[in-house]
Amino acid sequence: MEERLAIAIDGPAGAGKSTVAKLVAEKLSFLYIDTGAMYRALTYAALREDISLSDGKEMRQLLDSLTIRLVNEKAYTKVLLNNEEVTEQIRSNEVNQHVSLAASHQAVREEMVERQRLLAKEGQVVLDGRDIGTHVLPNAKLKIFLTASVDERAKRRHEEQVKKGIDSDLEQLKKDIARRDEFDSTREVAPLKKAEDAKELDTTSLTIDEVVEAIIDLAKERIS
Ligand code: DC
Repeated sequence: MEERLAIAIDGPAGAGKSTVAKLVAEKLSFLYIDTGAMYRALTYAALREDISLSDGKEMRQLLDSLTIRLVNEKAYTKVLLNNEEVTEQIRSNEVNQHVSLAASHQAVREEMVERQRLLAKEGQVVLDGRDIGTHVLPNAKLKIFLTASVDERAKRRHEEQVKKGIDSDLEQLKKDIARRDEFDSTREVAPLKKAEDAKELDTTSLTIDEVVEAIIDLAKERIS
């Protein structure tokens, strides 16, 4: 597989992966692929169709019936589930609470990874997720592992939700983030883990621009 021009950005919930990955992709004129949005779209569909999220076989059957398209707009990624726009819906608290379970099934991950590799073949790409450097694109030219303290990550998400006018409880967010970290890092299939050859960037006291710049510098070194 051609992975010379792929950048993998992994890390826990709320470390700023999607914001940073999208900006890096824009600056380098790469295609941005938000793999978390794919797991979110599946979760949203399962909740809506009342499918048991703990049943891997049913979840895979559901996934097989879905097309999930990611369309990069100027300021956000539009998500289309069987051609219906679900961009906002997949960010709801209900989806936040269930997505880790949906993403824990081997049968689901196999199909998602296949779809993500196909998308990555389209050219120069930045993918963000949990298992990009370890499983989806193990030969990616540059691998970044973005982290930040739980407090900082909860604070960022809180500010984001307040700005959007969504009800937000900081203490609850901290608990949700810690719970999701624990679940994503201890699941059996492709757990969240830094790839050995990934560069770890702790963003707790960095601005978005500083993080983006650090990644662009690394990308230029590796990709030129
Ligand atoms: O990045 P995010 O918060 O949108 O991801 C949502 C969930 O999807 C997250 O809890 C873990 C899962 N996920 C995953 O298991 N593997 C990926 N490559 C991306 C996301």
